[in-house]
Amino acid sequence: MHRSSIELQTLIEPHKPSFCQTLVTGSTGLNVLSLFDGMSCGQLALQKAGINVNQYFASEIKPHAIKVTQLNFPNTIQLGSVLDVKAIDLPQIDLLIGGSPCQDFSSANKEKLGLQGEKSGLFYEYLRLLKECNPKYFLLENVAMDNYSYSAISEMLGTYPTNINSELVSGQLRQRSYWTNIGPESFDLFGNRYSMIPQPRNKKITFQSLLENGYTDRLKARCILESESRPLVSKDKLYRRYNELGFINIVFDNPQCEYNENIRILTQTELERLQTVPEGYTSILKRNDAACLLGDGWTVDTIAHIFSFLEVECSNLAQS
Ligand SMILES: C[S@@+](CC[C@H](N)C(=O)[O-])C[C@H]1O[C@@H](n2cnc3c(N)ncnc32)[C@H](O)[C@@H]1O
Repeated sequence: MHRSSIELQTLIEPHKPSFCQTLVTGSTGLNVLSLFDGMSCGQLALQKAGINVNQYFASEIKPHAIKVTQLNFPNTIQLGSVLDVKAIDLPQIDLLIGGSPCQDFSSANKEKLGLQGEKSGLFYEYLRLLKECNPKYFLLENVAMDNYSYSAISEMLGTYPTNINSELVSGQLRQRSYWTNIGPESFDLFGNRYSMIPQPRNKKITFQSLLENGYTDRLKARCILESESRPLVSKDKLYRRYNELGFINIVFDNPQCEYNENIRILTQTELERLQTVPEGYTSILKRNDAACLLGDGWTVDTIAHIFSFLEVECSNLAQS
């Protein structure tokens, strides 16, 4: 999507979020706008943190993701593409959440277009709606990225993020940044704000403990990705990728974790467990379709930890 330089200039002026306020919602709960909602891990996390939701608006375009969301949360109001979402059509939003697409930030992407990329540039839609909706609270999640994009996003959002590795709450390595005005904060000498959400308690969950059967020689699984939906068919290639590059996850049939023809990829249930998504949440889909959403999704317990710092009256906050 192309914007004029004047439009872009207005958009990138730093957001001035309101910090540390108690949101009085009565018994009805929050109005939430979730951009790039995927399969609604945001909604699972709100539920887990005991936050009441009044209306949950989701912007998502992937049919499989919408199908899973509507099955598990039938009251979700789907809005379609973020490009068509306008604050004027919505009630006052209390909480804006989203993890904008990250493909152009990825180290695997040779072009590394960052915020200029078509997909990662959708961050600007998040920023637009942050300004249009002016919610009390916001949360943006993304992957590790180049310093320029990291600082640019932080300046535009008016805060530096908190960085959490999901390995603390699950059996999976997953380092992510969370830009938010929820929870504690600090400022440096130049007035830059930093999110000071503490790290979640280390639950010491091992990869092995999440397997349905078989063995692993890794303490923690490698970060699961959307590419889990396109597993290599050749066992030989699968093992080489595991052993030499260390990217993917495989399971052995013997405790010595020696290679043989019985090595396997992760099951749908194991992928759900690694993301702390309730078992069976994606069962309406076939394994590879579910893997696509789970690889793209949030670790529910990490997000629930962040939401546990929401100061919401009449809610049942469960500090993790
Ligand atoms: C990184 S994933 C977010 C997953 C989500 N946080 C979850 O927990 O399931 C990014 C999502 O953005 C969606 N997306 C891409 N373009 C979009 C658009 N124009 N409008 C809305 N969503 C879009 C993709 O389909 C994908 O599900």
